Order: sequence, then C-alpha cells, then structure tokens
Amino acid sequence: KRRLTVCVVGSGGVGKSSLTVRYLNNHFPEFYDPTVEESYITQMEYGFDAHDVEIVDTAGQEEFMLFRDTALAQGDAYLALFAINSVSSWYSLQELRDKIVREHEDEENIPMVIVANKSDLEAYRQVEFGEVSEYCRSIKCPLVEASAKTGLNVTEGFRMLMDRVSEI
Ligand code: GTP
Ligand code: MG
Repeated sequence: KRRLTVCVVGSGGVGKSSLTVRYLNNHFPEFYDPTVEESYITQMEYGFDAHDVEIVDTAGQEEFMLFRDTALAQGDAYLALFAINSVSSWYSLQELRDKIVREHEDEENIPMVIVANKSDLEAYRQVEFGEVSEYCRSIKCPLVEASAKTGLNVTEGFRMLMDRVSEI
C-alpha cells in the first residue's frame, strides 16, 4: 500500500506550520512565514504498527490556493485547524471541511480531527467552545483544543487522527 498522507489544513496564519514543527521538532517558531507547501516524512503508529506517513503542511493564504486545492484532494487524513482568536478562521474551517468531503466523492467519513489552535490566547477568544463542539458532534469529528506555542495537545491531536485512521 502506498504511504498515508496527512494534510494539515486551515486558513492563513492559524498555526499549521507551527503545529507541524512543534510536533516534529518540539520547537515553536515565533515568526510568521506564509507557507506555499511543505512536506515531511515521518513514522507514526496506527493499526498496531509503525508506518511511514507524509505530513503535508498546506498553504492558507489566498495566493497559494492552487497548491492547497491539490492537497485537499490527495489527503488520506486531515488535521483541520482554526485559531480560537479568529472567528473568520472558524468559518473558513467549515467551508474547508465541505470542500474536502466534495473532493472525496462526498465521503463524509474521512479521517479528520479538528484542532482549535492558539488556546493560549484565551483572553482573545472569538469562538465559543460550545459552538465548535456542537459542530464537531454533528459531523462526527473529534475535537481538540491545542497550542503550538505551549505544546498543549499537539501530539494528542496527531495521535487522535491516527486513531481515526485505524478505526475507519
Ligand atoms: P500559512 O502558512 O500562511 O497558512 O500560516 P500557518 O497556518 O502555517 O501559520 P503559522 O504556523 O505560520 O503561524 C502564524 C503565526 O501565528 C506565527 O506568528 C506563529 O508564531 C503564531 N502561532 C502559531 N500557533 C500559535 C499558538 O498556538 N499560539 C500563539 N499565541 N501563536 C501561534
Ligand atoms: Mg504555514
């Protein structure tokens, strides 16, 4: 079987690269460098074995959407991010989810975990946890509040996604 592709998706600046780098290197880059597309090969466990997994850190900014749309169609599993301090990133995430489902022949049961990132910015929260958890329940998608900055639930988010890959 070909290697599993995990796509990290979400609108510009929500922390996709930061979360990926935190997961792979346990380091937090403070600067913002908009991504065109980065890809990493790592090993992850699912289905009781370790496998090679490609993590694709996708673009969020408009000018790189052509790259992103290709990735949206080619992923096997998705870590879908928004930032709790950005209501527009939350709306974008819901549109992204619909787009991913359409790209997968309307298959609703794609392995996906929703990550509410920047949970360290609680004082600037614009998106209520209750609204997000309600949505996630309705689409049967696990949810985790995380922070690439503090490292909270970063490994857990990827772990939950691998659990979904094993289940589905
Ligand atoms: P694009 O590649 O343009 O789509 O952006 P991105 O989603 O990869 O965002 P990136 O990881 O580059 O982070 C954008 C900015 O947010 C950077 O300045 C990060 O340091 C900051 N950031 C990312 N994650 C967190 C977080 O969990 N908490 C806080 N406070 N800042 C974060
Ligand atoms: Mg990025």
